[in-house]
Amino acid sequence: MSLLILGIESSCDETGVALVRAGDGGGVPTLLAHALHSQIEMHQAYGGVVPELASRDHIRRVLPLTEAILKESGERLDAVDVVAYTRGPGLAGALLVGAGVACALGAALDIPVLGVHHLEGHLLSPFLSSDPPEFPFIALLVSGGHTQLMRVDGVGRYAILGETIDDAAGEAFDKSAKLMGLGYPGGPALSRLAEQGDPKAFKLPRPLLHSGDLDFSFAGLKTAVLTQARTLGDELQARKADLAASTQAAIVEVLVKKTLAALDQTGMRRVVVAGGVGANRLLRAQLDAACAQRQLRVHYPELELCTDNGAMIAMAAAMRLQAGQQQANRDYAFDVKPR
Ligand code: KG4
Ligand code: ZN
Repeated sequence: MSLLILGIESSCDETGVALVRAGDGGGVPTLLAHALHSQIEMHQAYGGVVPELASRDHIRRVLPLTEAILKESGERLDAVDVVAYTRGPGLAGALLVGAGVACALGAALDIPVLGVHHLEGHLLSPFLSSDPPEFPFIALLVSGGHTQLMRVDGVGRYAILGETIDDAAGEAFDKSAKLMGLGYPGGPALSRLAEQGDPKAFKLPRPLLHSGDLDFSFAGLKTAVLTQARTLGDELQARKADLAASTQAAIVEVLVKKTLAALDQTGMRRVVVAGGVGANRLLRAQLDAACAQRQLRVHYPELELCTDNGAMIAMAAAMRLQAGQQQANRDYAFDVKPR
């Protein structure tokens, strides 16, 4: 019997909902519709996400967005078989909105619910693309809160090969951008500005590049960018694009080289990139070139599904259920796992 799954994401500053159908044949589940409301504009005035405002906005958006995707897909609410929601990690209040709505819908419709790990959503998001990967693969998970290299042998079979010992790659983008006065969220802004700059203009460190393991560290890079910005003083304004380009080049070089090392060490021929930083154009270009040269396959989520969205949550739930690895249940006494 096929399953219609409603997915809800509300871990941070995007409200995302989606409908995915998991067939009984075991093929890749299909995305029927998804919708997203980004709170970026609302938080911009504060230079970062304000948790209380985020929660309130999720409350305002989640049901209208759900109505919109039901309409778009031509499905009825009472045809939904399972409601999936992001259980964590994320902002506690924001997570509670998605969990609360999911469990209320579950109770009202008398259908089971399933809490999903946000990072597993990102990890499986390339299965939403028209060219989904096959298992096994190496995953480079690069978001605002996480930087990990993983060996993925199947749904639920994940082994961490390396991870950041301090800041995440997205954080390195965001914090460097903030130092340069580029606002929030910094990653996309910094990468746009970098296109007009010289990536060799400033010599910045490539932390742990030759450490031999697959761990990352970005805190030192951020400090080096701060020092450079201070040294420039009044000149910073005129050299901003160069500093942005140099910062981006340093982050991307480390990500690409460590990913290639993970492929070498495991003998894997396939890599999947997921998480917000996976939208970065330089990262994609360099990884594409390096993988083409070595005849390795690289997969990305669709650009719009790199950052947080409901489709990846519905997809992760669909794949878990299809693999028979997790039971959706009628325990509506929900909890969330912020960390
Ligand atoms: O996965 P995501 O949407 O949220 C988390 O789960 O953290 O990732 C957000 C992160 C932010 O740090 C943002 O600056 C970064 O992804 N990001 C980018 C780009 N687009 C988003 N970083 C670099 N270049 C981009 N084009
Ligand atoms: Zn995320």
